[in-house]
Amino acid sequence: MSDQDNNFTLPPNVTCFSRSKNAQISERHLFLTRLRNRELPYQAFRKTADQLFDLIAEAMIPHLENHEVILTPIFRAGLSLLPVFMSKIENSRLCSIGVKRNEDTAQPEPYLFKVPPEIAADAKFVILEPMIATAGTMCYSLGMLKKQGYDLNNIEIISIFCALEAVDKLQNEFPQVHIHTEVVDPILDEHKYIVPGCGDFGDRYFGT
Ligand code: URA
Repeated sequence: MSDQDNNFTLPPNVTCFSRSKNAQISERHLFLTRLRNRELPYQAFRKTADQLFDLIAEAMIPHLENHEVILTPIFRAGLSLLPVFMSKIENSRLCSIGVKRNEDTAQPEPYLFKVPPEIAADAKFVILEPMIATAGTMCYSLGMLKKQGYDLNNIEIISIFCALEAVDKLQNEFPQVHIHTEVVDPILDEHKYIVPGCGDFGDRYFGT
């Protein structure tokens, strides 16, 4: 199955870069194909992911102009997007969210939540998470931000591989949140990994 074949209908709060008609589309498909290749060594995986992050960060800049930007990587895989986004959005600040996925139950387990002080009322939270599988961790993180009183309309999620199941869950529970993803993949396997996906993004990016 190629990335062009995933042509199911997506809700309006989802932007899927690999479907858009833009100048870099063949380059984007090439990057995705490389990331999907489980034989690619971690150095090449990281380089390719960074090239894709660069395109995504550029595409996000118009959405973020005139706002304070709070970059919010979901630890650990979300940290991979941080250097590129920090270099493109120089005055961004960091919100740390650590939510661990229990590998047996696939349920979220929180261990860190730190928002910077005195942020503007219209600040945009840009949540960085390359793999959104069940959206359990994501919904948990959005719930924490909502509980603290942050406006969910000011949240943008950045992802590379988002499962269709996650799109549905986020649309049902947090329809005001916008998802910007490189691709939407149709299936989760029995371990809640995205299919075809790319395997464990954090392990592949960080070489662990
Ligand atoms: N996290 C990953 O790194 N990969 C998946 O497929 C799902 C969750």
